[in-house]
Amino acid sequence: MKNKKINRRIFFQRLGVGVGSTYLLQNCMSNMNHGTSDPVPVASDATFKNILKIPETLSNPTTFIAQSVQDTIMDGKTVKYLGYRNGLLGPTIRMQKGSTFNAKLTNQLAEHTNIHWHGLVIPADMDGHPDQMVMANESFNYRFTLNQQAGTNWYHPHVHGTTAKQVTQGLSGLFIVETPEEKALNLPSGTFEIPLVIQDKRFNTDGTIKYSPTMMEVMSGYLGDNILVNGTASPYLNVSTRFYRFRILNGSTARIYNLALSNGAEFYIIGSDGGILEKPETVKETLLGSGERLDILIDFSNIAINTEVFLESKTFSGMGTAQGTQAFKILKFIVNKQESNTFKLPASLIPLPNLSGSNKKRSFSLTMTMNMSGGMHRINNKVFSSQRIDETVNLGSTETWEFDNSTGDEPHPMHIHGVQFQVLSRIGGRNTLFPHEKGWKDTVLVAPKEKVQVIMKFEQKGKFVFHCHNLEHEDDGMMLNFEVK
Ligand code: C2O
Ligand code: CU
Ligand code: CU
Repeated sequence: MKNKKINRRIFFQRLGVGVGSTYLLQNCMSNMNHGTSDPVPVASDATFKNILKIPETLSNPTTFIAQSVQDTIMDGKTVKYLGYRNGLLGPTIRMQKGSTFNAKLTNQLAEHTNIHWHGLVIPADMDGHPDQMVMANESFNYRFTLNQQAGTNWYHPHVHGTTAKQVTQGLSGLFIVETPEEKALNLPSGTFEIPLVIQDKRFNTDGTIKYSPTMMEVMSGYLGDNILVNGTASPYLNVSTRFYRFRILNGSTARIYNLALSNGAEFYIIGSDGGILEKPETVKETLLGSGERLDILIDFSNIAINTEVFLESKTFSGMGTAQGTQAFKILKFIVNKQESNTFKLPASLIPLPNLSGSNKKRSFSLTMTMNMSGGMHRINNKVFSSQRIDETVNLGSTETWEFDNSTGDEPHPMHIHGVQFQVLSRIGGRNTLFPHEKGWKDTVLVAPKEKVQVIMKFEQKGKFVFHCHNLEHEDDGMMLNFEVK
């Protein structure tokens, strides 16, 4: 492999050391090439003894205070992190289509921050573009009206260069949009509708959340060795013998999960990032990249009382060398209450409009280079610059964008602001569209060797970004601007 050798040499040069001059670096490189760097420890079933926290749900939040907080989230250990209110992760916002969100973000951190409303189709000046910073001790009022289909969206800071750090340290939350159409489906709700924000983190011995990727981890992704759900380590949830709805967010910076149930049972995908599917899709496992969401139903009705079932991540291949090498458990369900199940899986859900009449096609090459100047991860060989408009799009137009990872060997979950798109095709690599890609999406996993095409209509004016949602890659500059006018 000639290329690999060249890359390796340039890599060492960039670090300012001779080839093979330190054992540590060699070890690092060999981990990268052979995929043994995944640090999740194999936990025993008995360790899942922390009750799953459910972030508070608010239908009309008015204040978000980005601040340092501390709390016991890890087996009685005090953890220091960043929060918007109380608790790791902000509140789950649940609002109706047509209503207006109006809340003030106050920045009590020592650094600048902002909030991006990931998945919401809202005006550019409210989107939390990396240009729109809220400086320390300042505040900003976010105000926008929701005008999109029902879906599971989320929010997080978007500070170029420190997005990954701020998200890892606790700043993010879910933003659910509801519509009467969705309500009419009578899906499991209330205590039977549970948000699951899955994140991997590393901790320092002093209880702070560690975020310090090496150059190698900027490439492979910074993989944490603790898997948290809703900020709870080793969580369990008591469930009854009936259908539940889980709204799942992969809120990790880089980790991809291959979600499955430990009893091998099927589950039903009813929604994707920004919308409900046309019909439930039955699966036994599904990959979820960083930033992607999944709306699923699990049927516990035929499970005997006192049975434990785990939500787990199975191994997978084809997503680069560092990811998918280990299987691990995420959340323990304890079936502990008999209930008669009256819910029937609907045959159809919400029709998906056909986005036809695309009048322009753009293609974006996704590459990794060891070039000394600027970031390593690039789109069309460019590194993010806030001053440069990379693409200009006509307001109201429908376009097809292709993400071309055909020469790459890292996965890139590509995300576009200001729109919800539909995935048209995947050529090369896995060569197929997956069940959770049959609805509204704003983030799509582009594996090595793949070209993925998406179609969307641009209905918001102004300057937005699109980028890789591997947050190490994003902070490294794998992000471009587009302007709709
Ligand atoms: Cu979730 Cu531009 O990000
Ligand atoms: Cu976004
Ligand atoms: Cu990437």
